[in-house]
Amino acid sequence: MSAAAPSSALEAGAFRDRFRLPHGPEGHDALYLCGNSLGLQPIAAADAVAAELERWGNLGVAGHFDGPLAWMPYHRLCTDKLALIVGAKAEEVVAMNSLTVNLHLMMVSFYRPEGKRRRILIERGAFPSDRHAVSSQLALHGLDLEHDLVELAPRRDGLLHEEDIEDYLERYGDSVALVLWPGVQYATGQVFDMARIARACERAGVVLGLDLAHAVGNIPLNLHDWGVDFAVWCSYKYLNSGPGAVAGCFVHQRHANFDGPRLAGWWGHDEKSRFRMGPAFKAARGAEGWQLSNPPILAMAPLWASLDLFAEADIHALRRASLALTGHLASLLHERLDKAIQIITPLEPHRRGCQLSLKVRAGREAGRRLFERLEAHGVVADWREPDIIRVAPVPLYNTRAEVDAFVALVEKLL
Ligand SMILES: Cc1ncc(COP(=O)(O)O)c(C=O)c1O
Repeated sequence: MSAAAPSSALEAGAFRDRFRLPHGPEGHDALYLCGNSLGLQPIAAADAVAAELERWGNLGVAGHFDGPLAWMPYHRLCTDKLALIVGAKAEEVVAMNSLTVNLHLMMVSFYRPEGKRRRILIERGAFPSDRHAVSSQLALHGLDLEHDLVELAPRRDGLLHEEDIEDYLERYGDSVALVLWPGVQYATGQVFDMARIARACERAGVVLGLDLAHAVGNIPLNLHDWGVDFAVWCSYKYLNSGPGAVAGCFVHQRHANFDGPRLAGWWGHDEKSRFRMGPAFKAARGAEGWQLSNPPILAMAPLWASLDLFAEADIHALRRASLALTGHLASLLHERLDKAIQIITPLEPHRRGCQLSLKVRAGREAGRRLFERLEAHGVVADWREPDIIRVAPVPLYNTRAEVDAFVALVEKLL
């Protein structure tokens, strides 16, 4: 469990030499501020993959059962470390599939519309894959978007307010079957009070699922204690596990013996009798019961290698370093560029993670121009339509000096 264990101070960039840095112009290191999209490659990742290729070459099928890296239980190398990062018990967590696949698996089990209670509540402007997933789940149940998908709008400040979820659930909670909410909004970088949302869902008797794509490895989470029903995340952003990396899934312990509907596969079958090859499905206890296939070991090796760094650094120490680093970026932008740049991410520390989302006040075209010029000068950030530049200093590998250099460059280019 992720108790708020005291941990020693960590300087931003303390793990920089454990990562590979992409090249910028003229062979210099890029100014990489894009860990919110794709985290950097841990140097240990290549060794971890090479080790599995070796084991496959040397052992063949025996690799499934041989030694501490046996492929049969290989996914468990990740379990305890993931559990620490998301604040879960080991049996609540499993590394598998990809985010959207896991979201569908979860909704097949936990979105069970019945009678009047059939709506899904999401945020307006949700990441498209989430919206496609909930739309297709509604369609599978013969329901339609117009009546049964509720998209809660941001207020005039451009932000979503937890209070509005509470209000909606107080008024219409008996018509809602599922709230699917992000831990961190991908476009604005806003962090939500997930404990508060979980309490509102509990009062209304509504299932809560979280999309933690932008939260995992970014801010500490406490999924078990908050009482979230399920959560899904990808591992290629702050978890630095590579493009399309093996994702993760949390199912609360109270569903450990779930016997409702699920899409099943042999890897979710109880481990003790899996190889008796019987025709009947007996789910493994906990999150592992939702596994479908034997995991892709070569893809899982970088995840394990990267999680080791988190275990070493400690997610709470990383958060403290992140608050200081992103806080530094916010202050510099505010002091030196307030007339030109608007930060749309909320600035209260508990409402933001690593990422700041910026808009150029002069408008979209000026914003796009700035973004392209930054790119030409070796800054790696990203652009989200219509007019957002996202930058995320990541405390594992970004430094305060890089933040200074970024702001100085923006100043110069503007
Ligand atoms: C918030 C959010 N949800 C869902 C996804 C989709 O993830 P995947 O392609 O891994 O299923 C992403 C991808 O960036 C995301 O940012």
